[in-house]
Amino acid sequence: MLQNEIAKRRTFGIISHPDAGKTTLTEKLLLFGGAIQKAGTVKRNKAEKTATSDFMEIEKQRGISVATSVMGFTYKEHKVNILDTPGHKDFAEDTYRTLTAVDSVILVVDCVKGVEEQTKKLMQVCRMRHTPVIIFINKMDREGKDPFDLLEELEKELNIYTRPLTWPIGIGTTFRGVYHLSNHTLNLFSANKQNIADDYLEIDSINSEVLDQTVGKLQAAKLRDDVELIETVSEPFDVSLYKAGYLAPVFFGSAINNFGVQELLDTFVEIAPEPQPRETSERIIEPAENKFSGFIFKIHANLDPNHRDRIAFCRICSGKFQRNTFYYHTRINKKLKFASPTSFMADTKSLVEEAYPGDVIGLYDAGNFKIGDTLTEGEELHFIGIPSFSPEIFKELENRDPLKTKQLEKGISQLSDEGVAQLFTQNPGNRKIIGTVGELQFEVIQFRLLNEYGASAAFRPINVTRAKWISCEDEEIYNRFIRTQASKIAYDKDQKPVFLAASEWDLNYYAKQFPEVEFHDTSEWD
Ligand code: G4P
Repeated sequence: MLQNEIAKRRTFGIISHPDAGKTTLTEKLLLFGGAIQKAGTVKRNKAEKTATSDFMEIEKQRGISVATSVMGFTYKEHKVNILDTPGHKDFAEDTYRTLTAVDSVILVVDCVKGVEEQTKKLMQVCRMRHTPVIIFINKMDREGKDPFDLLEELEKELNIYTRPLTWPIGIGTTFRGVYHLSNHTLNLFSANKQNIADDYLEIDSINSEVLDQTVGKLQAAKLRDDVELIETVSEPFDVSLYKAGYLAPVFFGSAINNFGVQELLDTFVEIAPEPQPRETSERIIEPAENKFSGFIFKIHANLDPNHRDRIAFCRICSGKFQRNTFYYHTRINKKLKFASPTSFMADTKSLVEEAYPGDVIGLYDAGNFKIGDTLTEGEELHFIGIPSFSPEIFKELENRDPLKTKQLEKGISQLSDEGVAQLFTQNPGNRKIIGTVGELQFEVIQFRLLNEYGASAAFRPINVTRAKWISCEDEEIYNRFIRTQASKIAYDKDQKPVFLAASEWDLNYYAKQFPEVEFHDTSEWD
């Protein structure tokens, strides 16, 4: 029974550089999956597009996006769980953490722009974790780059092998459709169509006359040349290389026109991995173990100051989760019971009685959870692989209203538990340094501290641009380093020491002075 439930599940994230079409594709997947009846139901995450100063709008959108951050639907006997990720680069950390809770990823690339800055960063995170990736090249109805050039660019820039599974016939105004390389079907393009089922054409072979009659002699000849070239230069598609994260199958289409989405979804449910084992500091957890375990990868605050509760998103890793059952919170050594665990489906939420590995449930929380926390049936386990990444901007927190010191302390600690920003402390908590990946996060923190906690805060720029977690095999040298460099050492949320450097040069200088000390980009290292 448990085994069956696991085999059915496909939990994945959709990622892209903003504007490539992630929201549109998500919506179309939900449409094909029958989770929504018409396009437009899922609120656009316009946060990605709003100006930097418009953070209140972003917060409103964050509120809306609670429902859309996890979406489940059933497709061809499979339970598909889509985890949405914020596209805005200032919320990149949120995206990195969400990627710890998926078993695979669909990466959307704009055929006009090719590989963009965020595409590269997101792929680095996928590569780090060997997450299997399927690439969807979108906007084929626009005058984009040549498909062969795009494949080469993907391989070079993203450091992954690619294998097209469909191939476009023309592009932009000459775009006629896609040819399915393995089952020899043609899907013919017509803009804005709602239903694609009638537009499939099966041909016996690529040399069939029907092809010439359908797309014209010129485009048929070009397609034959392209396919011959692909078959000569690429190996047959090897699903095990995809699952190991080395090879990305590539699909072409146009999400806004519902085009190429069905092929993507059909192949996805067939080849994407089911829920995978996950690592804890104690042992590897297999999904089919009888006992429940899971971890928190995202916490969403309630924006209404009268309701301080939050929703903690829990990825189930093993066993069966049941409502109203006591589970063990290993960090705080406490048993907790959840009366209203929630599952999400497009724009609605519903109560869950039980959930299985691969599922993501929302747990109402009054302040017990931090990102990375583990729940079990009693075993002392701690899931790993949810590291903090070095922030890029650092500022010191200033208290503008001494009468509200307590509120400020509480607010900043809760916001850092939620992962809104990273908090580093110095001199037993007297000095607080906030690290973020974007300016926008400072505005969000300031706004939320005032609105939710009544605390007035400001930020002072400081001369820090890098935070490195440190380790050293020799304990004496390690302690000496921490003691002698005290002014540059701060402590992260788990009280791990972090070295704060002014620049790459500064970092290199100290690395040379202390060759035994290792500096790490993330809070977990091998
Ligand atoms: P994102 O979540 O990755 O940021 O992208 P989103 O889906 O919001 O899409 C970005 C823009 O690209 C949108 O236009 C969307 O309509 C358009 N788009 C998505 N897929 C396709 C496609 O296949 N072909 C073409 N030509 N355009 C596509 P917008 O004008 O920014 O937004 P809207 O006014 O249409 O909502």
